[in-house]
Amino acid sequence: MTHVMRQQWVMGNWKMNPLTRDEATQLATSISQTSIKENTNLAVAPSMLHLQAVADHVTNSVMIMSQDLCAFSQAQGAYTGDVSAEQLADSGVGAVLIGHSERRQYHAETDDVLIEKMKHALSAGLMVVFCVGEQQAEREAGTHLSVVAEQVRSVLEAVTPNASKLIIAYEPVWAIGTGLSASADDAQAMHAHIRNTTSDLHSDYAGVSILYGGSVKPANAPELAACDDIDGALVGGASLDAAQFLDIYRAFG
Ligand code: PGA
Repeated sequence: MTHVMRQQWVMGNWKMNPLTRDEATQLATSISQTSIKENTNLAVAPSMLHLQAVADHVTNSVMIMSQDLCAFSQAQGAYTGDVSAEQLADSGVGAVLIGHSERRQYHAETDDVLIEKMKHALSAGLMVVFCVGEQQAEREAGTHLSVVAEQVRSVLEAVTPNASKLIIAYEPVWAIGTGLSASADDAQAMHAHIRNTTSDLHSDYAGVSILYGGSVKPANAPELAACDDIDGALVGGASLDAAQFLDIYRAFG
């Protein structure tokens, strides 16, 4: 593996928003009007249906990501409703989210599914944004550090992406879409723990960026950005408002 340096990223996960293609392209246009800082990358993950329209409306320096990909085939075939890693790469997608808690919850995605998705994404040359995070009950029980370390190990021991193709997003499930964010201290402690866990798997993983996600807003972005082991943000709700999203972007880097 080549030696990799941590990079700053601010990523918008639009989920199943906005409702119309016009709104999606307007959001993309507003976001791409900002000047991209040399040290902080910007990315958005629109709905699959709006990917191409959004790709046509952003400047080259905003990376387009997919929220999902087919677990069964890297290329093409009889998989109704699925979109493959190669189709995504062919459409200008640069990265894909894998392991988001909403996919784990609503689509019952297991580690085995995540492993297959990760293999296909990497073979097609995509970067992977691997999401992990504990449930509220796990944090209350004090098992959050071991739960998240296990999520990280169970997939990265099986796949081991090149460090330059891997980003990790720590998203405590209880903080997603709830307005409850992890405190900067708690987030920092978990990020340091994830970095230790991944560095034990492969020394190059010390250079992997670890993003925080879960109710990131302009108000809490600066304190998160100030933490040593937080390399950026994966933003849901606030990424649907260009002004808020760009305020968060400016807080990092
Ligand atoms: P949120 O979502 O910012 O709305 O909490 C984050 C995410 O799910 O990636």
